[in-house]
Amino acid sequence: MNILVTGGLGFIGSHTVVELIESNHNVIIADNLSNSEIGVLDRIAQITNVKPKFYQINVTDKKAVEEIFKNNHIDGIIHFAGFKAVGESVENPLKYYHNNILSTIVLSELCLKYQVNKFVFSSSATVYGDQPSPLKEDMILLPTTNPYGETKAISERILKDISKANGNFSVCLLRYFNPVGAHKSSIIGENPKGIPNNLMPYITKVAKGDLPKLNIFGNDYDTSDGTGVRDFIHVVDLAKGHVKAIENMNSNVNIYNLGTGKGTSVLELVNAFIKCNNINIPYEIVERRPGDVAITFADASKAEKELGWKAELTIEDMVKNSWEYEKRLI
Ligand code: WQD
Repeated sequence: MNILVTGGLGFIGSHTVVELIESNHNVIIADNLSNSEIGVLDRIAQITNVKPKFYQINVTDKKAVEEIFKNNHIDGIIHFAGFKAVGESVENPLKYYHNNILSTIVLSELCLKYQVNKFVFSSSATVYGDQPSPLKEDMILLPTTNPYGETKAISERILKDISKANGNFSVCLLRYFNPVGAHKSSIIGENPKGIPNNLMPYITKVAKGDLPKLNIFGNDYDTSDGTGVRDFIHVVDLAKGHVKAIENMNSNVNIYNLGTGKGTSVLELVNAFIKCNNINIPYEIVERRPGDVAITFADASKAEKELGWKAELTIEDMVKNSWEYEKRLI
């Protein structure tokens, strides 16, 4: 299939592009480089021997996006492009609502106009709000704790309603848990701009000496060691889930958790990083981070049953691949 991947030079987007190409799909990338760099395009080519067609555009710019639809036959879309820093979304909600919602609307309008009938959306476990894990796709969605999460929940609702009103338009909402790791080549990985918000890129910066220590946000949660528990999933497993999704989406609205179904605590991840990479990670236990929930992990059985997809890579793979990638960064 010919697949338009928005945000295709980003962390999850670039890994998904690699897996799409390796599954013999033809990929077109649209990215504004706000949280990625043009060098990733060559690295995708280095891994796959294919350099995808690339458009440097804002996906909220309908005129620019329509040029892609006019000049390319598109069978499906995977929409990653969006801002994703939880803390920033609290400080600047309008930036998040404008970018993340308008991009979904622009793409949906053009899909209907050009009869592109497969729309895979990059959603997040955040949409479940604070409710007991394991989290299941048929749960009621509670309000999230931040505008970033709300943009995901609202985009899901928009896509569901459009699909119900347009019988041929099929959507697939993929709810990610905590993507970490890097491609085994160490050529692509997670390299956020500025000080990392998320745990794993922060750990790798500490390991490299770019940051003095890791702050662990609270060890007084009701968990085995008091630190937060998350469902960390290898980004390559996550990418493969997207390939399965766009190849197997059938009914109008498809919703899947992309997680491992297992919870790992912050301290367990830190200790696995230390042990597997034989490198120390100095850390300090500090106050809880506002908005954090104690425990989040997936019921991942629906994607396994309906898509034939299951996460295979381990926590050890995640910490090793993350570090191998970080070491190659200049
Ligand atoms: C994980 C755990 C922290 C940093 C968010 C979004 C989610 C997705 C992933 C975009 C928590 C602890 C973290 C640090 C720490 N976003 N932590 N010190 O908050 O689970 O999920 O990012 O795709 O939608 O909600 O991920 O990596 O920030 O935190 O102790 O410096 O690590 O308290 O328990 P989170 P995270």
